[in-house]
Amino acid sequence: MKPAVGPGAGQRDGPTDDAAAQESPMTGTKPVGAEPGQEARWVRQMFARVAPRYDLLNHLLSFQIDRYWRRFTVEKVRDILERPGTRVLDLCCGTGDLVAALERVHRRPVFGVDFCRPMLNEAHHKLGSRARLIEADALVLPLPSECFDVLTIAFGLRNLADYRKGLDEMHRLLRAGGSLAVLEFSWPRGRLVGPLYGFYFRHLLPCLGGVISGAGKAYRYLQQSVERFPSSDELSGAIRAAGFREVRDWPLTGGIAVLHVAVK
Ligand SMILES: C[S@@+](CC[C@H](N)C(=O)[O-])C[C@H]1O[C@@H](n2cnc3c(N)ncnc32)[C@H](O)[C@@H]1O
Repeated sequence: MKPAVGPGAGQRDGPTDDAAAQESPMTGTKPVGAEPGQEARWVRQMFARVAPRYDLLNHLLSFQIDRYWRRFTVEKVRDILERPGTRVLDLCCGTGDLVAALERVHRRPVFGVDFCRPMLNEAHHKLGSRARLIEADALVLPLPSECFDVLTIAFGLRNLADYRKGLDEMHRLLRAGGSLAVLEFSWPRGRLVGPLYGFYFRHLLPCLGGVISGAGKAYRYLQQSVERFPSSDELSGAIRAAGFREVRDWPLTGGIAVLHVAVK
């Protein structure tokens, strides 16, 4: 069972199966149907299938709110983005929406990392020749330590096979004083928003997403992975445990998403 801390505790119908209920919240993604040890491969193949329609579905199914969440993320690191000489990395960059939003403020290229080639191809189309994209696994990055001042990750952490290892790798890459921004889905707390969102997220979204993308599995995974992801407080604790300080969080749109920002 999830510990009785955090906004999610006792307020959502959490994981329903016993195995999920027993495990620690800070493990890693466990897609239903993925063999143990094959979670990352399962995730990569799933994103490869949805890549051509990822943007369309993202904007459609979130009613375009995802654009606002990314802009909010950029605003929270704007100060450091505007400093000359700052180096910026977006992990799990997917089709490059956050890279593009960061570049609008930074006015210089932002590095993007993802391990799914079809998602990176979409990012290449969007960003053009200025793209600085690297195909690599976020858990073992082929990059030197302490080479970035800002590191962002949007809707990526939840998909990693090992959340702690991912946070450790982010800590390794940032320079002292650098900022980490983690944008991720969460479960809204409100008495009205919670149940409404639950209905939309558990029933309508997998159905609509499946019909439009032709990949129903991907949208069932989305719902399942969000439900078993750590609460905002648990994630704050894990970010601190990875060595970050000044951890702050902002619930967005009634708590559907949460932005965590921390300093190394
Ligand atoms: C939900 S998408 C988010 C994409 C983008 N950040 C956005 O805001 O739309 C998650 C992305 O994380 C990538 N990803 C998942 N696990 C990864 C890993 N271990 N290493 C690198 N990329 C990973 C997937 O390929 C996918 O493109």
